[in-house]
Amino acid sequence: MSGLDPLVGRHEIATAAQMTALGARMGGMLRAGDLVVLTGALGAGKTTLTRGIGAALGVRGTVQSPTFVIARTHPSLGAGPALLHVDAYRLGSAAELDDLDLDLDHAVTVVEWGRDYVAGLRERWWEVEIERPSAGPEDELEASDPRTVTITRHPG
Ligand SMILES: Nc1ncnc2c1ncn2[C@@H]1O[C@H](COP(=O)(O)OP(=O)(O)O)[C@@H](O)[C@H]1O
Ligand SMILES: [Mg+2]
Repeated sequence: MSGLDPLVGRHEIATAAQMTALGARMGGMLRAGDLVVLTGALGAGKTTLTRGIGAALGVRGTVQSPTFVIARTHPSLGAGPALLHVDAYRLGSAAELDDLDLDLDHAVTVVEWGRDYVAGLRERWWEVEIERPSAGPEDELEASDPRTVTITRHPG
C-alpha cells in the first residue's frame, strides 16, 4: 500500500470542513512524485479538498481556484515536498499540459479537471471524483451540503 491506496473507495462527506479534513488525511499520505486528479463539477469541492492537502503538507500560500494561472507551486515551509496545484480547465490537450514542463518529481501534484490529460505522466495515480447528489442546475453553493467522494487508483 502506498499513496492514497488506504483511502480507495467511497466516502460520504457532509460538510466543507469534513472535505478539508479528508484532504488533510490525503496530505499525510502523499509523497513527492505522487499525482492526484480531482474530478467534479464547478463547486463540487475540488479546491476545498486541495486546501486540506496543502495544510497537511505545510505549504506556503493560500490554495485557491486559479483564475489566470494554470499551475501554481506552493513551496513547503519545512523540509517536505511542495504542492503543485494545476487547474486543467482551460487546457485543450495532453500536449498543452506537457508544454508546462511541470516538475512532478519534487512535488505532490494535484490536478483539477485533468483526467483526460494525465495518462502517461506517472506510472500510477489516483483519481478523486466528487459528486453533489443534491445539486440541481440552479442550486446555490451552500456552506454545508453533502458530497460523495470516490477514490480510484490508476491503473487499478
Ligand atoms: N460537503 C462539502 N464538501 C466540499 N465543499 C462544500 C461542502 N458543502 C459545501 N461546500 C462548499 O462548496 C464550495 C466548493 O467550492 P470549491 O472547493 O471551490 O469547488 P471546485 O474547486 O470543485 O469548483 C465551497 O464554497 C464549500 O464551502
Ligand atoms: Mg476549483
